[in-house]
Amino acid sequence: MKLDNRLSAVASLVNKCDCIADIGTDHAYLPVYLIGNNKARRAVAADVRKGPLDNARKTVSQYGLEDKIELRLSDGLNSFKEGEVREIAVCGMGGLLIADFIRRTAWLKSPETHLVLQPMTHAEDLRKTLFDNRFYIDREVAAADGDKLYIALSAYYSGRVIEYSKADCVLGSLVNNSDELSRRYILKTAAAYEKKLAALKAASKNTVELEKLVLEIHRYIDKA
Ligand SMILES: C[S@@+](CC[C@H](N)C(=O)[O-])C[C@H]1O[C@@H](n2cnc3c(N)ncnc32)[C@H](O)[C@@H]1O
Repeated sequence: MKLDNRLSAVASLVNKCDCIADIGTDHAYLPVYLIGNNKARRAVAADVRKGPLDNARKTVSQYGLEDKIELRLSDGLNSFKEGEVREIAVCGMGGLLIADFIRRTAWLKSPETHLVLQPMTHAEDLRKTLFDNRFYIDREVAAADGDKLYIALSAYYSGRVIEYSKADCVLGSLVNNSDELSRRYILKTAAAYEKKLAALKAASKNTVELEKLVLEIHRYIDKA
Protein backbone atom coordinates (compact mmCIF):
# COMPACT_ATOMS: atom_id res chain seq x y z
CA MET A 1 0.00 0.00 0.00
CA LYS A 2 1.48 3.33 -1.06
CA LEU A 3 -0.27 6.40 0.26
CA ASP A 4 -0.47 9.79 -1.44
CA ASN A 5 1.42 12.66 0.20
CA ARG A 6 -1.66 13.88 2.12
CA LEU A 7 -2.33 10.52 3.77
CA SER A 8 1.42 9.92 4.24
CA ALA A 9 1.51 13.14 6.28
CA VAL A 10 -1.37 11.82 8.37
CA ALA A 11 0.35 8.44 8.83
CA SER A 12 3.55 10.18 9.99
CA LEU A 13 1.63 11.70 12.92
CA VAL A 14 0.03 8.43 14.09
CA ASN A 15 1.61 6.87 17.18
CA LYS A 16 2.46 3.17 17.29
CA CYS A 17 -0.63 1.65 18.88
CA ASP A 18 -2.69 -1.44 19.49
CA CYS A 19 -5.73 -0.08 17.67
CA ILE A 20 -6.36 2.89 15.39
CA ALA A 21 -9.83 4.18 14.61
CA ASP A 22 -10.11 5.76 11.18
CA ILE A 23 -13.29 7.85 11.07
CA GLY A 24 -14.57 8.49 7.53
CA THR A 25 -12.32 5.77 6.19
CA ASP A 26 -13.76 5.37 2.67
CA HIS A 27 -11.25 2.97 1.00
CA ALA A 28 -9.52 2.11 4.30
CA TYR A 29 -6.14 3.00 2.79
CA LEU A 30 -4.87 4.55 6.04
CA PRO A 31 -5.59 1.59 8.36
CA VAL A 32 -4.27 -0.91 5.80
CA TYR A 33 -1.06 1.12 5.51
CA LEU A 34 -0.65 1.51 9.29
CA ILE A 35 -1.07 -2.22 9.92
CA GLY A 36 1.22 -3.11 7.00
CA ASN A 37 3.89 -0.81 8.43
CA ASN A 38 3.56 -2.11 12.02
CA LYS A 39 2.21 1.16 13.40
CA ALA A 40 -1.07 -0.42 14.49
CA ARG A 41 -1.84 -4.04 15.38
CA ARG A 42 -5.52 -3.70 14.47
CA ALA A 43 -8.00 -1.05 13.36
CA VAL A 44 -11.61 -0.01 13.27
CA ALA A 45 -12.39 1.53 9.89
CA ALA A 46 -15.59 3.54 10.31
CA ASP A 47 -17.80 5.43 7.91
CA VAL A 48 -21.28 6.92 8.05
CA ARG A 49 -22.25 5.44 4.68
CA LYS A 50 -22.46 1.89 3.42
CA GLY A 51 -20.90 2.65 -0.01
CA PRO A 52 -17.53 3.77 1.44
CA LEU A 53 -17.57 0.79 3.81
CA ASP A 54 -18.01 -1.48 0.76
CA ASN A 55 -14.93 0.22 -0.73
CA ALA A 56 -13.12 -0.42 2.55
CA ARG A 57 -14.21 -4.09 2.53
CA LYS A 58 -12.65 -4.55 -0.92
CA THR A 59 -9.29 -3.05 0.16
CA VAL A 60 -9.24 -5.02 3.40
CA SER A 61 -9.93 -8.27 1.55
CA GLN A 62 -7.33 -7.43 -1.14
CA TYR A 63 -4.70 -7.19 1.62
CA GLY A 64 -6.06 -10.20 3.58
CA LEU A 65 -6.61 -8.10 6.72
CA GLU A 66 -10.15 -9.22 7.59
CA ASP A 67 -9.03 -10.47 11.01
CA LYS A 68 -7.29 -7.16 11.84
CA ILE A 69 -9.64 -4.49 10.50
CA GLU A 70 -13.20 -4.22 11.75
CA LEU A 71 -15.55 -2.25 9.48
CA ARG A 72 -18.12 -0.21 11.34
CA LEU A 73 -21.04 1.99 10.33
CA SER A 74 -20.69 5.08 12.51
CA ASP A 75 -21.63 8.74 12.42
CA GLY A 76 -18.43 10.30 13.74
CA LEU A 77 -17.55 8.37 16.89
CA ASN A 78 -21.19 7.67 17.84
CA SER A 79 -20.82 3.89 17.47
CA PHE A 80 -17.74 3.73 19.68
CA LYS A 81 -17.90 2.95 23.39
CA GLU A 82 -16.26 5.37 25.79
CA GLY A 83 -12.48 4.92 25.67
CA GLU A 84 -12.71 2.00 23.24
CA VAL A 85 -9.98 3.51 21.08
CA ARG A 86 -7.29 6.00 22.05
CA GLU A 87 -5.57 6.59 18.72
CA ILE A 88 -8.04 8.28 16.37
CA ALA A 89 -7.61 9.61 12.83
CA VAL A 90 -10.19 11.79 11.09
CA CYS A 91 -9.07 12.81 7.61
CA GLY A 92 -10.35 14.21 4.36
CA MET A 93 -13.40 15.95 5.83
CA GLY A 94 -14.31 19.57 6.43
CA GLY A 95 -12.89 21.14 9.58
CA LEU A 96 -16.36 22.09 10.81
CA LEU A 97 -17.54 18.47 10.69
CA ILE A 98 -14.40 17.24 12.46
CA ALA A 99 -14.89 19.98 15.09
CA ASP A 100 -18.46 18.77 15.57
CA PHE A 101 -17.24 15.18 16.28
CA ILE A 102 -14.89 16.58 18.93
CA ARG A 103 -17.57 18.69 20.60
CA ARG A 104 -20.11 15.91 20.76
CA THR A 105 -17.82 13.07 21.91
CA ALA A 106 -17.19 13.94 25.55
CA TRP A 107 -15.00 10.89 26.27
CA LEU A 108 -12.33 12.17 23.88
CA LYS A 109 -11.41 14.59 26.65
CA SER A 110 -8.86 12.28 28.21
CA PRO A 111 -5.06 12.64 28.33
CA GLU A 112 -4.88 9.14 26.81
CA THR A 113 -6.60 10.26 23.63
CA HIS A 114 -4.47 11.12 20.63
CA LEU A 115 -6.17 12.79 17.67
CA VAL A 116 -4.70 12.98 14.18
CA LEU A 117 -6.83 15.33 12.12
CA GLN A 118 -6.64 16.36 8.49
CA PRO A 119 -9.22 19.03 7.67
CA MET A 120 -9.80 19.87 4.00
CA THR A 121 -11.35 23.26 4.90
CA HIS A 122 -11.84 25.52 7.96
CA ALA A 123 -8.61 24.45 9.68
CA GLU A 124 -8.80 27.67 11.76
CA ASP A 125 -12.24 26.71 13.16
CA LEU A 126 -11.02 23.22 13.97
CA ARG A 127 -7.98 24.57 15.85
CA LYS A 128 -10.24 26.97 17.76
CA THR A 129 -12.55 24.11 18.77
CA LEU A 130 -9.55 22.08 19.92
CA PHE A 131 -8.20 24.98 22.03
CA ASP A 132 -11.66 25.80 23.47
CA ASN A 133 -12.02 22.15 24.49
CA ARG A 134 -8.59 22.13 26.13
CA PHE A 135 -6.71 20.15 23.49
CA TYR A 136 -3.25 21.31 22.52
CA ILE A 137 -1.66 20.84 19.13
CA ASP A 138 1.81 19.37 19.53
CA ARG A 139 2.69 18.95 15.87
CA GLU A 140 1.41 19.97 12.51
CA VAL A 141 2.68 19.07 9.04
CA ALA A 142 2.03 20.39 5.54
CA ALA A 143 1.83 18.17 2.46
CA ALA A 144 1.33 18.74 -1.25
CA ASP A 145 -0.31 16.55 -3.88
CA GLY A 146 0.02 18.28 -7.24
CA ASP A 147 -0.91 21.94 -6.77
CA LYS A 148 -2.90 21.32 -3.62
CA LEU A 149 -1.56 22.01 -0.16
CA TYR A 150 -2.87 20.21 2.92
CA ILE A 151 -2.24 20.23 6.63
CA ALA A 152 -2.51 17.46 9.18
CA LEU A 153 -2.24 17.95 12.94
CA SER A 154 -1.68 15.96 16.09
CA ALA A 155 -3.57 16.93 19.26
CA TYR A 156 -3.82 15.76 22.88
CA TYR A 157 -6.24 16.67 25.65
CA SER A 158 -4.51 18.80 28.27
CA GLY A 159 -7.31 19.51 30.75
CA ARG A 160 -5.94 23.04 31.07
CA VAL A 161 -7.29 26.27 29.69
CA ILE A 162 -5.40 26.98 26.47
CA GLU A 163 -4.49 30.61 25.83
CA TYR A 164 -4.51 31.39 22.14
CA SER A 165 -4.69 34.22 19.65
CA LYS A 166 -6.54 34.42 16.34
CA ALA A 167 -3.24 33.91 14.54
CA ASP A 168 -2.70 30.66 16.50
CA CYS A 169 -5.99 29.43 15.02
CA VAL A 170 -5.09 30.55 11.52
CA LEU A 171 -1.49 29.26 11.41
CA GLY A 172 -1.44 26.55 14.06
CA SER A 173 1.84 24.83 14.88
CA LEU A 174 3.07 25.19 11.30
CA VAL A 175 4.96 28.27 12.51
CA ASN A 176 7.28 25.93 14.44
CA ASN A 177 8.32 24.14 11.24
CA SER A 178 11.22 25.12 9.00
CA ASP A 179 10.30 23.09 5.91
CA GLU A 180 9.39 24.61 2.55
CA LEU A 181 5.81 23.26 2.44
CA SER A 182 4.88 24.69 5.84
CA ARG A 183 6.29 28.05 4.74
CA ARG A 184 4.27 27.87 1.51
CA TYR A 185 1.09 27.04 3.43
CA ILE A 186 1.64 29.96 5.82
CA LEU A 187 2.33 32.44 3.00
CA LYS A 188 -0.73 31.20 1.08
CA THR A 189 -2.90 31.63 4.18
CA ALA A 190 -1.48 35.12 4.81
CA ALA A 191 -2.21 36.08 1.19
CA ALA A 192 -5.83 34.90 1.54
CA TYR A 193 -6.34 37.11 4.63
CA GLU A 194 -4.65 40.07 2.92
CA LYS A 195 -7.02 39.67 -0.03
CA LYS A 196 -10.00 39.60 2.32
CA LEU A 197 -8.71 42.74 4.03
CA ALA A 198 -8.25 44.57 0.70
CA ALA A 199 -11.81 43.62 -0.35
CA LEU A 200 -13.27 44.91 2.93
CA LYS A 201 -11.29 48.15 2.64
CA ALA A 202 -12.45 48.62 -0.96
CA ALA A 203 -16.03 48.21 0.26
CA SER A 204 -15.39 50.73 3.09
CA LYS A 205 -16.20 48.12 5.72
CA ASN A 206 -14.83 47.98 9.25
CA THR A 207 -11.43 46.30 9.04
CA VAL A 208 -10.05 46.89 12.54
CA GLU A 209 -10.13 43.25 13.68
CA LEU A 210 -8.90 41.86 10.38
CA GLU A 211 -6.05 44.38 10.24
CA LYS A 212 -4.94 43.27 13.71
CA LEU A 213 -5.03 39.64 12.58
CA VAL A 214 -3.02 40.32 9.40
CA LEU A 215 -0.41 42.18 11.47
CA GLU A 216 -0.25 39.30 13.92
CA ILE A 217 0.16 36.80 11.06
CA HIS A 218 3.03 38.89 9.70
CA ARG A 219 4.72 38.98 13.09
CA TYR A 220 4.68 35.14 13.07
CA ILE A 221 6.01 35.02 9.51
CA ASP A 222 8.85 37.42 10.33
CA LYS A 223 9.82 35.38 13.41
CA ALA A 224 9.89 32.07 11.47
C1 LIG B 1 -13.32 12.41 1.20
S1 LIG B 1 -13.56 10.94 2.09
C2 LIG B 1 -12.04 10.79 2.97
C3 LIG B 1 -11.54 9.38 3.01
C4 LIG B 1 -10.26 9.19 3.77
N1 LIG B 1 -10.42 9.44 5.18
C5 LIG B 1 -9.17 10.09 3.22
O1 LIG B 1 -8.78 11.04 3.90
O2 LIG B 1 -8.71 9.87 2.09
C6 LIG B 1 -14.69 11.42 3.39
C7 LIG B 1 -15.37 10.22 4.01
O3 LIG B 1 -15.98 10.67 5.22
C8 LIG B 1 -17.21 10.01 5.36
N2 LIG B 1 -18.07 10.78 6.28
C9 LIG B 1 -18.74 11.92 6.02
N3 LIG B 1 -19.45 12.30 7.11
C10 LIG B 1 -19.18 11.37 8.08
C11 LIG B 1 -19.64 11.21 9.41
N4 LIG B 1 -20.52 12.04 9.96
N5 LIG B 1 -19.17 10.14 10.12
C12 LIG B 1 -18.30 9.26 9.54
N6 LIG B 1 -17.87 9.36 8.27
C13 LIG B 1 -18.31 10.41 7.55
C14 LIG B 1 -17.75 9.96 3.93
O4 LIG B 1 -18.75 8.96 3.80
C15 LIG B 1 -16.48 9.64 3.14
O5 LIG B 1 -16.28 8.27 2.98
